[in-house]
Amino acid sequence: MEIIIQPDADAASLAGAAVIDALIRRKPAAVLGLATGSTPLTLYRELIRRHREEGLDFSRVTTFNLDEYLGLAPAHPASYHFYMRENFFHQVNLSAARAHLPDGLAADVPAACRRYEEQIAAAGGIDLQVLGIGADGHIGFNEPSSSLASRTRVKTLTMETLRDNARHFTDPGEQPRHVITMGVGTIMDARTVLLFAFGPAKARAVAAAVEGPVTASVPASALQLHPRAVLFLDQAAAGDLRRREYYRWVHENKPDWQRF
Ligand code: F6R
Repeated sequence: MEIIIQPDADAASLAGAAVIDALIRRKPAAVLGLATGSTPLTLYRELIRRHREEGLDFSRVTTFNLDEYLGLAPAHPASYHFYMRENFFHQVNLSAARAHLPDGLAADVPAACRRYEEQIAAAGGIDLQVLGIGADGHIGFNEPSSSLASRTRVKTLTMETLRDNARHFTDPGEQPRHVITMGVGTIMDARTVLLFAFGPAKARAVAAAVEGPVTASVPASALQLHPRAVLFLDQAAAGDLRRREYYRWVHENKPDWQRF
């Protein structure tokens, strides 16, 4: 794991955007795995800016989002279809046909989950997966106890995640308890993983994921087994890391040839 601690969330987001920019310029038909939530909003804003001002071209890029609420229509303002359209897709030149999210309204959910995995494989696999992390250590919506080998499927959200995300629903009765999410195994197949975590509420989960044991109780800890997982943290999210001075030292002393 590579731990990059930045002065604040904006600096961490900009550093992550530069990695994605470099990938797309190197490989214009790159396959990106995308996340929703508060964490990647600045990352998306920076990618949009680079598209508008620096010619970053998404026309051949393919995307797969991590998750979607079960039972929410794409037009629902709390759906992840809606979030992606508003915060990213509609502001870059990404082809709608190449922007994928799990279908929260699928009639046959297990078949839709299998098809999602097939679509990822048919696209050649995910080059770079963007992740946030839940306060309970989830990645995607792989809540604690998720199999570390899991594939796209339905998960039941924890009470903690439901509470954390309740702010997105004006009518609490509309908040689904179930989601379709890529599995931990799906995420681990991505060739590069960038995880972003900001704020003190994430510090405990980050420390458990980085310095705790690899365990299904902290799904993000599976990233310890990933050959190319990079964590972009602000000071607060790095606050519980026992070896944070070492991670800073590593970053400062990284040989040029090893930098992104
Ligand atoms: C979102 C997702 C989740 C979030 C996580 C953090 O697609 O898969 O794992 O990344 O819940 O959410 P925020 O960024 O809102 O704190």
